[in-house]
Amino acid sequence: MSQEIFSRRETLSVETNDPRNSKRSTRALRRWRILARALTGSPEPIGSESDEEVSVRRFTSFGLLKCALLENMLADGEFSWCEYSTQLDGRSYNVQIRRISKCFTASELIGFNNTGNVCVWPSEECLAYYLLRNHGLCRNRNVLELGGGMSCLAGVLAAKYCNPSTVTLTDGNVTSVDNVRCIVARNDMTHLVECGVVQWAQAARALRQTMTINGNRVKTRTTDENTRLPSGLYDVILSADCLFFDDARLDLVETIYGWLTDDGIALVMAPRRGMTFQKFAEASIKRGFIARQTERYDDMVWSRHLELLENSPEYCPDLHYPVLLELTKQKKMPPG
Ligand SMILES: C[S@@+](CC[C@H](N)C(=O)[O-])C[C@H]1O[C@@H](n2cnc3c(N)ncnc32)[C@H](O)[C@@H]1O
Repeated sequence: MSQEIFSRRETLSVETNDPRNSKRSTRALRRWRILARALTGSPEPIGSESDEEVSVRRFTSFGLLKCALLENMLADGEFSWCEYSTQLDGRSYNVQIRRISKCFTASELIGFNNTGNVCVWPSEECLAYYLLRNHGLCRNRNVLELGGGMSCLAGVLAAKYCNPSTVTLTDGNVTSVDNVRCIVARNDMTHLVECGVVQWAQAARALRQTMTINGNRVKTRTTDENTRLPSGLYDVILSADCLFFDDARLDLVETIYGWLTDDGIALVMAPRRGMTFQKFAEASIKRGFIARQTERYDDMVWSRHLELLENSPEYCPDLHYPVLLELTKQKKMPPG
């Protein structure tokens, strides 16, 4: 789970209700309350003594895309529709995004990871913006987003503005994927965009049980029937803020490696979050990728980062500034 919300040990101490863990339990309970506030959308009291002891997700956006609530669509309390928009080089870009603002049931909270249903994370925003700035990257390409959360904002904007051949939007969480399906329908993209639940462990297991012969996938062992392998490979794979899951790291690397064409590129954005980014980069290299890390990949994002460093005490680059990791299987030749 996110380092910012609570640690797994603290969660367990609440569950066991052991009085010896009372201090840890109290802290964990506060974190659960913060998570509940984030999930239900109720306002966070900032700066109260109790909240200062735990880290809160106070930084939410680099402001690269404006997010306007579409007031005439406040129909059902569990969701809201917003328009994300920006202007770049005199051109307007906009897309309607459905955000989940419902109260999660206990079983949903302890079910498959829900971090993608809490908000659109800054890495997703930066990746979306990066694709709009570099829209040639997806042109005539088969694009896949992994772990796109409830919005898959980067993949949705790529579908709308970057002229890809196909776009496939995925997450491991069913609620997120159902939400993305609504977004795709409302933005009239069903002809171009497919959505599906992809959990990296299952995908990686299936991939490990296959081999590619003359460009065709051949099963070497019986695969789990629930795991559908895509019929083809992808030229561009997108992923935002998915690197901090220690248990899933190798499965995510394997999924990207197995589903990327030989001359394709994976664009992975994530904050460093301690050593998690670095561990992912190292695991990718070990798997056979060429990995390139870039901090200053866009002048606007970089200048927002510098402004925030100067003026915003809650901004912590280690947790919030997304670094770009480009993964390729072959060295990219410079153009010309
Ligand atoms: C921090 S969220 C990021 C969501 C989205 N990319 C964003 O930045 O707004 C991490 C996402 O990874 C997904 N995820 C976590 N573990 C996964 C796994 N093992 N397989 C597939 N998706 C997973 C979660 O469901 C969640 O949507």
